[in-house]
Amino acid sequence: MVFIDACFRQETPYTPIWLMRQAGRYLSEYQGVRQKTKNFLDLCANVVLATEVTLQPIEILDVDAAILFSDILLLPHAMGLPLEFVPSFGPKFLDTIKSLEDIKALKRGAYKDLGYVYEIVSNVRSKLDKSKALIGFSGAPWTLATYMLEGQGSKTYSRSKKILYAQPEVAHALLEALSIEIISYLDAQARAGANALMLFDSWAGALELEAYLEFGWDYIQKITKALKTKHPKVPLIVFPKGVGTYLAHLKGDFEVFGCGWDTPLEHAKEVLGDRYVLQGNLEPARLYSQEAMRNGIEHILEVMGKKAGLIFNLGHGMLPDLPRSNALELVRLVREISRR
Ligand code: CP3
Repeated sequence: MVFIDACFRQETPYTPIWLMRQAGRYLSEYQGVRQKTKNFLDLCANVVLATEVTLQPIEILDVDAAILFSDILLLPHAMGLPLEFVPSFGPKFLDTIKSLEDIKALKRGAYKDLGYVYEIVSNVRSKLDKSKALIGFSGAPWTLATYMLEGQGSKTYSRSKKILYAQPEVAHALLEALSIEIISYLDAQARAGANALMLFDSWAGALELEAYLEFGWDYIQKITKALKTKHPKVPLIVFPKGVGTYLAHLKGDFEVFGCGWDTPLEHAKEVLGDRYVLQGNLEPARLYSQEAMRNGIEHILEVMGKKAGLIFNLGHGMLPDLPRSNALELVRLVREISRR
């Protein structure tokens, strides 16, 4: 698999590419399947349909990796927080974590209740071409904790930060409980056939350096260390979004460092050197214009060169109104320009 070779910095015939949120509303085929279920959670739990949408971007875009179709919030949901996806608003937890008692009441071993996720993984793996990789994933503890504390997306993260600074022991209890679940959850995905595992820390950039190291990165280090021991041949990808200025501090047992569009790759390459393979980081909005997209692709490939060390991706997820024709062109161009 070109993608897995590239994760381990082996030379490949071209730079592999996949796109965050490559299965989603910008694809009419996704919308067609989405309409068959009343809500998004039903789609995530439907083995046949979730398998179908996981495979759509492989068939349509010919990307080098499929990513499990699911959501990072299924794990907190399984731990006992009722979750809804509200149309044109986003995810909403009907209960939030307010105290140590609430954390004690969370279900332990909740990953066992997500059997359908592992079924989707093994079903996808059995249908996927041998040359294509399947990526399993989880949210990182800090990002999951923000949703559990805020109840929904937030601009200020004031509830989460209040707990972090005023009751750090409560924050650590929640992050610890999440980390234990995440290790088992990702381990189960690898055992079901996931070829690589990714941790999304989408809201890493909401914290100052010291707080991020203590409440965010420290847990990522523990998780990757545990998984690396269990699955040395499964590459681990971390994606702490918005922490470009903290890079020198972000060390750990993983192969691939995902860069958001906010982190210039020149900078990541300089600071991280050859320590990690980089993944990223085309600003998704560049796909609104063919010219902006082409310039962005050329710049990234120029900075990273044709040697091993890059997995091409967007610097955050595909937006629902991006033209699919440009997503197709993106994959074609990256393959053509990066061919060795
Ligand atoms: O990348 C993929 O194609 C795999 C599937 C995937 C989804 N969510 C599908 C999804 C992955 C990897 C995620 C991760 C996820 N979910 C993150 C981390 C990545 C990131 O974007 O930073 C976060 C923060 C979430 C939480 C979440 N889920 C939000 C904020 C939303 C609403 C956003 C919106 O545009 O409505 C979701 C819903 C969601 N997750 C959708 C999809 C395809 C849209 C649901 C729909 O079809 O109505």
